[in-house]
Amino acid sequence: MDKGKKRILFDAETISARVKELGKAISADYPQGNLVMVGLLKGSFIFLADLVRTLEKPCQIDFARISSYGSGTVSSGQLEVVMDIVPVTGRDVILVDDIVDSGLTLDYYRKRVEQFEPRSLKTAALIDKTGRRDRDVHLDYYGFRIEDGFVVGYGLDWDERFRNLSHIYVLDES
Ligand code: IMP
Ligand code: MG
Repeated sequence: MDKGKKRILFDAETISARVKELGKAISADYPQGNLVMVGLLKGSFIFLADLVRTLEKPCQIDFARISSYGSGTVSSGQLEVVMDIVPVTGRDVILVDDIVDSGLTLDYYRKRVEQFEPRSLKTAALIDKTGRRDRDVHLDYYGFRIEDGFVVGYGLDWDERFRNLSHIYVLDES
């Protein structure tokens, strides 16, 4: 499949405005601050970096990483822990991912975080892709909702490409 053709879906300005809104909502929900924001690598790195800079109170930042085997546009369903989360016992945690598709990844991390018995746990993703949901995962904060399509840019990759783009594009699947 040639993944060369793509068109802008959300431009940088639109993304920035939406991320600010999410930051406002999070700041209002946690007036005490002291959050642990856990970014899921690698896709969330730009979203998390922008999001935490919109928060009004100091927060702790951490990362975790699992990999699904293989590359391409379809999750194989097999997950491997590459870098585990830090212990978050008694803390207010928000898990931050780039995009939720089947829900497998976020569902996995949610269960992993819960084992540490945090004080609270919420989830955030820049994009909620609803068309192929397999797990019943609840997103407390999402930037944009799409039904289908493969999107890249602003941290999101296709086979490790396009993460550095400022806009979010949808790839032409034809
Ligand atoms: P899930 O486990 O099926 O929900 O997939 C979540 C992960 O798959 C995300 O963290 C992304 O890394 C990747 N992914 C799913 N859809 C897309 C997409 O449209 N573009 C880029 N990555 C995607
Ligand atoms: Mg990815």
